[in-house]
Amino acid sequence: MKNVLSGIQPTGDIHLGNYFGAVQNWVRLQEEYKCRFAVVDYHSMTMPYKADSLRENTWKMVFYLLACGIKPENLFVQSLIPEHVELSWVLACLASYGELNRMTQFKDKTDQLRESDKDAFVSSGLFLYPVLQAADILIYHADYVPVGKDQDQHLELSRNIAQRFNHQFGKEYFIHPEPLYTETPKILSPADPNKKMSKSLGEKHYINLFGEEDRVRKQIKSAVTDTGETPSGEMSPGVKNLFELLRASGNQVGYDALMTDYQSGALKYSALKEEVAETIVTLIRPFRERLAELSADKRSVKAQIQDSSAEIRKRAQQTMREVRELTGLLSMK
Ligand code: AMP
Ligand code: TRP
Repeated sequence: MKNVLSGIQPTGDIHLGNYFGAVQNWVRLQEEYKCRFAVVDYHSMTMPYKADSLRENTWKMVFYLLACGIKPENLFVQSLIPEHVELSWVLACLASYGELNRMTQFKDKTDQLRESDKDAFVSSGLFLYPVLQAADILIYHADYVPVGKDQDQHLELSRNIAQRFNHQFGKEYFIHPEPLYTETPKILSPADPNKKMSKSLGEKHYINLFGEEDRVRKQIKSAVTDTGETPSGEMSPGVKNLFELLRASGNQVGYDALMTDYQSGALKYSALKEEVAETIVTLIRPFRERLAELSADKRSVKAQIQDSSAEIRKRAQQTMREVRELTGLLSMK
């Protein structure tokens, strides 16, 4: 069976964009592949953060992913497998300063930090972020990596590093990981459909997957539809986004019916919003219920993830033994 690996940062909340763009796909992939999904807490240390909230958000993300249908045996916390960092050092020595300096995410995040403070502290961890990501992927010899298009550059770097490793140490040891893209286009902010749904824009710009039903309904009811800026004959981004939400939620029947109305000019935006709101609320209700069940026994859920991390760690340790051998490091007795 082919190997799949992906990671998500523990950012606090999980929104419809994360779900349709990533997590939903992960849940499905579990049927077909040997999957490993990581909550990448080491990655979250690359930007300013607080220790208590990092730990809290890591567990939160674990519970959310389980509630969405990720199987506990496929889920682990990155920092419980310190071999990721060990391998990332070896790989850092195979990545050039110049190629890391070309990573657009590094530039974007540096700009983001300097926007509020021109002398902001930019950590070298942020610079090495893609190398750690390469280690996440290569340590399990992942064939496929489900990611958004924004991660293309990082994945290419992983392949380049793998190739350089193989060349330098004279063995086809690491395989070249390929991306697996989701078909869902970027989900847009309900409050500003010119931007993608994202937590960093603020609360009104994302719909929380585990949010209160009333709030979800309200956000969809007040979603921006037609701003009059779209050339006639073209669907405005806000309306397109609502249709996309229907399709991504699996309500193809509602999608087709409302699309027919749209094409004949009979579509009422209120009817579209009503259908979207009900579809979303129905979709997320079982997730909320599942989260409540899991939260009733937090301790045993945490223990389960510590166990699965220990189990997954064995594969990472095996890779590190082989890497030590190949790269000229010593081994333990
Ligand atoms: P982030 O926390 O923004 O890095 O996102 C985590 C995952 O969710 C990535 O795989 C993204 O591609 C996906 N994602 C984030 N925002 C959106 C969005 N608005 N629409 C679709 N996918 C998204
Ligand atoms: N950088 C990824 C993101 O921002 C998260 C991530 C970390 C990841 N390690 C990974 C994704 C390994 C895929 C594989 O979305």
